[in-house]
Amino acid sequence: MTASGPEQWAAVDERLAVFAREDAVLAAARTSTEVSSPGIQVSRQMGRMLHILALASGARRVLEFGTLAGYSTIWLARAVGPSGRVVSIELDRANAAVARGHLEDAGVSAWVDIHCGPAAEVSGRMVAAGVEPFDLVFIDADKQNLPTYVERALELTRPGALIVIDNVVRGGRVLDPGDDPQVQGVVRALAALQGDDRVQVSITQTVGEKGWDGFAVIRKVAP
Ligand code: SAH
Ligand code: DHB
Ligand code: MG
Repeated sequence: MTASGPEQWAAVDERLAVFAREDAVLAAARTSTEVSSPGIQVSRQMGRMLHILALASGARRVLEFGTLAGYSTIWLARAVGPSGRVVSIELDRANAAVARGHLEDAGVSAWVDIHCGPAAEVSGRMVAAGVEPFDLVFIDADKQNLPTYVERALELTRPGALIVIDNVVRGGRVLDPGDDPQVQGVVRALAALQGDDRVQVSITQTVGEKGWDGFAVIRKVAP
């Protein structure tokens, strides 16, 4: 093995997929083409990691920003089980309908709610309503509004909660976002986290079947 590039990264993910084994329902949710942006689901390894983080932290209540076809939602829902709750926010009604089908097929729909609407508004209403705090939040919707979503996640969680953010490296473009509003959103969110003593932040770069990106795992320390 000499060269390294996207093909090798993807080949290694294929080899490692035995550690993130999917049943037919998970595979269908990951490869669904009926949604607005097919292929942007988390990788199998990332799905498995979310599952393990939820299990290891004993999460009962999980909040997700960005449902798409319900792939990450199913991993999280299977971790919390029927005595838990997953709330997932999705802007696109058609995506939400596709996701509900997969959640039904996965047998988890009894403890998963998909809230349809812009995540900033839906999560703002949850803050105003004083909903029971969440134990784990996965942020994976549009990136322009990432600073708002991080703030909402901090408002909607208990101390000790985990907040995971997808797509925080974007092929290295976080170093120079230019005029891309998505990457600018990521840069602003990271800048806010940097000065925030309510949180402990780890950021891991990744290469794999989805190219070069990264994720943040954040622990909310103080209220
Ligand atoms: N978490 C999913 C992938 C989510 S893709 C998985 O890994 O399986 C991002 C999703 O966010 C898309 O379905 C998109 O429609 C949704 N989205 C985009 N902008 C949004 C907004 N403002 N509010 C809520 N959802 C939004
Ligand atoms: C892309 C990937 C993602 O995981 C996401 O949430 C949004 C977009 C992408 O590859 O474009
Ligand atoms: Mg993502």
